[in-house]
Parts: sequence; structure tokens; C-alpha cells
Amino acid sequence: MKNTWNSELYDTKHSYVFKYGEDVIKLLSPKPGERILDLGCGTGHLTKVIADYGADVTGIDSSAEMIKQATQKYPSINFKKMDATDFSFTEKFDAIFSNAVLHWIPEKEKVVKCLSEALKTGGRFVAEFGGKNNIRNVVDALSIILKKNGYPDNAERINWYFPSIGEYASLLEKYGFKVEFAAHFDRDTFLDDGVDIIDWLEMFGKGIFSGIEPEIRKNLLSEIKDDLSTKNIKDGKWFIDYKRLRIAAVKEF
Ligand code: BEZ
Repeated sequence: MKNTWNSELYDTKHSYVFKYGEDVIKLLSPKPGERILDLGCGTGHLTKVIADYGADVTGIDSSAEMIKQATQKYPSINFKKMDATDFSFTEKFDAIFSNAVLHWIPEKEKVVKCLSEALKTGGRFVAEFGGKNNIRNVVDALSIILKKNGYPDNAERINWYFPSIGEYASLLEKYGFKVEFAAHFDRDTFLDDGVDIIDWLEMFGKGIFSGIEPEIRKNLLSEIKDDLSTKNIKDGKWFIDYKRLRIAAVKEF
């Protein structure tokens, strides 16, 4: 599933994504002068927060549109278009940070290998992303309704990566990390006023409907909305049933 990003919509209607990231930065605890990589920096909000701690931060993202926005907004920060599965730097980092990104990348082992190679020994990796059973209601509704209408929910359409603590910690250990902290917790998150599940899917689930005629896609979205309106509305407001995996690890070898 390939998602294309609308950086303006991301900033205006889905800003909770980076607002929650500020808690993850506290866990990272950046120090002045540290060389830090923000992996999947999006439009650069959190990269700027890290820079404000006095760190020497670089932001990378695979979306050219996101990198363009980030560079325009924060010209004093170094941003580069790079893929999380295939990045390298000549000078190693003291820490790598990543918020709400790793669930987009099924090639998780390639990412962890790059992380390990890009960190100094003793360097920190601090990340938060979707954990096991993340957005379960949404995935179930997508899967059932796509199948019912003759569109198999194969990995081409729905291939988010939502690991358990055990699974992800084992992967990190394989690449020389010691996991010092791991938490897997529920975070039902209300969407902004006037934003519903269709807006959310337009932003985050574009690739799922690729190749489907606009009229059919509209009907599918409407069926999904009907199904989820019995599960994902509280007090008249839409929420997404997020489950987060928060990890802090140190590179030992
Ligand atoms: C998330 O957990 O942040 C997420 C997962 C899938 C699509 C969009 C967001």
C-alpha cells in the first residue's frame, strides 16, 4: 500500500499526530549539541522541537512534499529526502527518534538494520508507532467491506505493520539493541470537530482504494462509515482506536 501525502491536510486536520509526539521527545530527552536523527519527520514540527533543545538535528522523510514543506518552514534545520529502509550517514548519531512512522513500513528489518548502523555504540533509539491490534475496528471494517464487494484485502491494500512488544523487542535485540523501556497502551483519539472517518481514510488510507473507480470507492467509504459509526463515535464525536507501542533502546554492539 503506497500512501501519497497531503502535507497541508496533515498539518491542519490531523495535527494530533505530532502533538502526541511531544511526549515521546520527553522520553528521548535531547541534550544540547547531540547529533539526532528524526526518522520520518513529516512537515518538521517535532524536528523543530528537538532543535529547540539545542540538539544538532537532521530530519529525513521519504515524501518529497513533506521535505519541501519542512524546509520552507524551518530553513535553519537540515532536512533530506531519504527512505527509512535505505538510509546511511557518514557521521553516526547520538540518538534516533521516530514518531508515528514505523507502522507504515512492512520492511521492518531493513529499517532496524539502518538504525543500528547509523547509531554510535551507546546511542539511543526512541520511537512510538502503532502496536498490535492498532485501529482494530478500522482494519476489520475495511477488510470485511472490501471483501464483501469483491476487493480482496490482500497485503497490496492493507499492509500496516503493528507489532507486539515481544516481536519488536526481538527484532531490536537481533541488531544489537538493549530494550530499556517498552509500553503498549490504548489511546482512543478523538478527531477534530467536523472530521470523520472518511476524512481520516482520505488522509491515511489512500493506497487501500487505489485502482477502484471513484463512484465505487465513494460507496465503499460510505459503507465503512456506517459500520464504524456504531463503534467509533462517542458523545457525537469520531475517535480512532489507536494502540501505541512506545520503545526506548540503546545500541550495545
Ligand atoms: C497510526 O497508528 O498512527 C496510524 C496507523 C495507520 C494509519 C494511520 C495512522
